[in-house]
Amino acid sequence: MFDYQAPENLLQNKNILVTGAGEGIGRAAALSYASHGATVILLGRTEEKLDAVYDQIEAEGYPQPATITLNLETANETDFDNLAATLEQEFGQLDGILHNASIIGLRTPLESYDPTVWKKVMQVNVNSAFMLTQALLSLTETSKDASVIFTSSSVGRVGKAFWGAYAVSKFATEGMMQVLADELEHNPDIRINCINPGATRTNMRASAYPAENPMDNPAPEEIMPLYLYLMGHDSRAINGKSLNAQ
Ligand SMILES: NC(=O)c1ccc[n+]([C@@H]2O[C@H](COP(=O)([O-])OP(=O)(O)OC[C@H]3O[C@@H](n4cnc5c(N)ncnc54)[C@H](OP(=O)(O)O)[C@@H]3O)[C@@H](O)[C@H]2O)c1
Repeated sequence: MFDYQAPENLLQNKNILVTGAGEGIGRAAALSYASHGATVILLGRTEEKLDAVYDQIEAEGYPQPATITLNLETANETDFDNLAATLEQEFGQLDGILHNASIIGLRTPLESYDPTVWKKVMQVNVNSAFMLTQALLSLTETSKDASVIFTSSSVGRVGKAFWGAYAVSKFATEGMMQVLADELEHNPDIRINCINPGATRTNMRASAYPAENPMDNPAPEEIMPLYLYLMGHDSRAINGKSLNAQ
């Protein structure tokens, strides 16, 4: 899948929500989906960053996107229900969700991990993805080719010292993906999968590995083949899988 060549119109007429679309991998995915014909709904917590992505999509002449400023740390069930109602009114149906927004929390031993930060990481990385999925699932039901992608990490597959809540949240993300994929296994019109992006040149990576030369890692734009593959119809038969983008 690393060299998947997406047809230019792969995502034409699709409405795709991307969380954490203001920068990093989410930004690259939103631009890539838009450039392949999708109407993207850019969700994030910093309005200016979302507006900049919006402007870039418009300037390129891709389908007009939408922005939703929402802090996933503080959003509750009512916020997600309101979001679903807005999307239903504006778009009618949803063909894709890329759960991408995450925070890294602390890099300390569990013994001294601050419980307040722990809860914050779990809220953004796991609980909000659960509530968002729950609120939006019925909107994907009218799509004949819907794809939900969660974002994992290598520390969500094998536990690693000092990765704390982030690692545990990614194990939970893998688990959520598997449970949902199994529950929807009977429905050929929706698939649920996970992407592990691998080391990618973003602010999150730089904060986790300050001594590393950022140029040693690929830019987010370089890992898009798998993001496109899993969002488009060529991956119709893939469900419940956790795949590496690199
Ligand atoms: N980069 C890597 O090497 C790597 C490796 C493995 C897995 N991943 C995973 O890939 C995904 C993207 O990572 P990245 O490196 O692109 O991270 P990033 O550059 O830090 O971007 C994260 C995005 O999530 C948004 N976000 C964070 N907290 C939020 C909240 N409370 N509410 C709404 N949005 C929020 C951020 O919004 P603001 O811009 O407003 O802060 C930002 O747009 C994450 O799930 C990460 O765990 C990354």
